[in-house]
Amino acid sequence: MRKPIIAGNWKMYKTSGEALELVNGLKSELKGESAVDIVVCPPFTAIAKVADALKGSNIGYGAQDMYWEEEGAFTGEVAPKMITDLGCGYCIIGHSERRTYFHETNDTVNKKVKAALKHGLTPIVCVGERLEERDSGKTFDVVKDHVEGGLSGLTKEDALKVVIAYEPVWAIGTGRTATPEQAQEVHKYIRSLLGKMFGEEVSSKVRIQYGGSVKPDNVKAIMAGPDIDGALVGGASLNVKDFAEIVRQSKR
Ligand code: PGA
Repeated sequence: MRKPIIAGNWKMYKTSGEALELVNGLKSELKGESAVDIVVCPPFTAIAKVADALKGSNIGYGAQDMYWEEEGAFTGEVAPKMITDLGCGYCIIGHSERRTYFHETNDTVNKKVKAALKHGLTPIVCVGERLEERDSGKTFDVVKDHVEGGLSGLTKEDALKVVIAYEPVWAIGTGRTATPEQAQEVHKYIRSLLGKMFGEEVSSKVRIQYGGSVKPDNVKAIMAGPDIDGALVGGASLNVKDFAEIVRQSKR
């Protein structure tokens, strides 16, 4: 049985003081909750404070991106060991906003995924089609391209450590969620792709999250899909009550 995983993607919100307030609220709301893996991904600048606050708690944390090189003259970038040094266990990779605004490609996603694994981080690898791609019947092609490109060259052992987030771009921040049937259809497809790439045993164990306008009132229906193992939550992760409720509603 795959354990559900709910991750909050805080995007470019929260100063470190605001982050602390949010995470302290989550800590008390979610105390003792162990049926779901809970993760928050603050902006880089707030990770150190969040890490301190979460010490010894049941909430994990990670970064929203990182560079793949060990270190060097890469102005503005953050290296894997800089985030593991802060105790991060996770890193979101290839979010659609990174692909759209910062020109990330399957190739850069793949380099980051490999670097994350090398440093013992769990990569949360985002895949998903844009609205025009869905409307022109290309959803499966795009998702295949993202999954095969992003996870190319991984061993079975590494593939087991990856979390995939299926996020249809048209559902992100729009209030328009995929229907549970639409989400399940793509999740099932992703699992079949993983089966072809890494074998059935691996594909049956990899967790696949859904992302895109997940809220307390729609998460249960989405989680009913047999191939849906959690959610990557943007907007609703910035609110203590909403995020805590999403976690509670995700229990199997
Ligand atoms: P949203 O964002 O929940 O605000 O739609 C999800 C995401 O971008 O990860």
